[in-house]
Amino acid sequence: MRGAVVGIGVIGSVHAQLLRERGELAAVCDIAAERCAAFPEAPAYSDYVTMLEEVRPDVVHICTPHYQHAEMATAALGRDINVLCEKPLGIGREDLARILEAERRSKAQLGVCLQNRYNAPVKAAKEYLKEARALGGMGLVAWHRDAVYYASGTWRGKKKTAGGGVLINQALHTLDLLMCLIGTPAYVTAKTANLTLKDEIEVEDTVAAVFSGGAEFSLFATNGSASEFETEIVIRTDRETLRILPDRLYIGGRCIGGGEARRYGKYCYGTGHAGIVDDFYACVKEGRKFPIDGKEGAKVVRLILAAYQSRGKRIEIEGVRE
Ligand SMILES: NC(=O)c1ccc[n+]([C@@H]2O[C@H](COP(=O)([O-])OP(=O)(O)OC[C@H]3O[C@@H](n4cnc5c(N)ncnc54)[C@H](O)[C@@H]3O)[C@@H](O)[C@H]2O)c1
Repeated sequence: MRGAVVGIGVIGSVHAQLLRERGELAAVCDIAAERCAAFPEAPAYSDYVTMLEEVRPDVVHICTPHYQHAEMATAALGRDINVLCEKPLGIGREDLARILEAERRSKAQLGVCLQNRYNAPVKAAKEYLKEARALGGMGLVAWHRDAVYYASGTWRGKKKTAGGGVLINQALHTLDLLMCLIGTPAYVTAKTANLTLKDEIEVEDTVAAVFSGGAEFSLFATNGSASEFETEIVIRTDRETLRILPDRLYIGGRCIGGGEARRYGKYCYGTGHAGIVDDFYACVKEGRKFPIDGKEGAKVVRLILAAYQSRGKRIEIEGVRE
């Protein structure tokens, strides 16, 4: 299998490294040419369409800023090239509609990089919840992202290019896991605020959200924490309470380790990137349907878009129950 990566930034470098280790890196592409230099063994491109046409990779990994995902995914799917797209799948309902239509028409598969679903503690919690009934959940994200972080990419911290702040960028994973473990809610009540970076970013650095209707959970996320905490999910069940951390799970008082999976990139990315890439490639190779397809990847974006729309009112989440 031949994989190409578009966007050799923070996370694109992780994808390219994974492909390098598997001997499957066919091309790299970035408008900043110097970023491709870290992967001299692969042909480098600055224009992704030229790269798609000339290389015709089996899989293209889209690791560019949020606002470009719809255009790039659509272009690749239109050429029947399989796409593994970094989160979020898109930043608006129009993006989602466009991508889902391209997926429907394509002979290729679309996978969305929600790699934390592949973390061992999450998989173990999912197993536990086959026997126990979830009564409710809580997600906590308390990270420190300062002005230097937001200045590290011109697209960060802007509604038009990032789609939002902590909710769509950092807390998306936690929200996705809550939904994956507990179920899909019908309603949300949420409020966002910019508590610490008013002069730096135009999007929220903090969100509080309550999801209800079929699945009950709440989320508190901030990038304005004075220091960095491990992301935590707590699920009350009709048996014991689960506490899910990036590398371990507590069932009642018992701690279950996170397995031996190798970590790529930051601790907070979890250990799932290798697992999701291998699973996507296996699905493509064997002609099996990859489980986190466009519809599945769009769900968490729909929750987020509704949360932004809520402004403190309980509203229905559009399109998640279809
Ligand atoms: N799954 C995860 O845990 C995880 C972690 C970090 C980032 N991400 C996601 O990955 C994506 C990228 O984030 P990042 O932090 O790596 O950003 P980044 O700014 O570090 O990297 C983006 C790269 O894309 C390049 N680029 C921009 N426009 C391009 C174009 N038209 N053609 C080719 N290259 C282009 C930029 O030059 C840059 O090198 C985002 O969607 C982000 O949310 C996911």
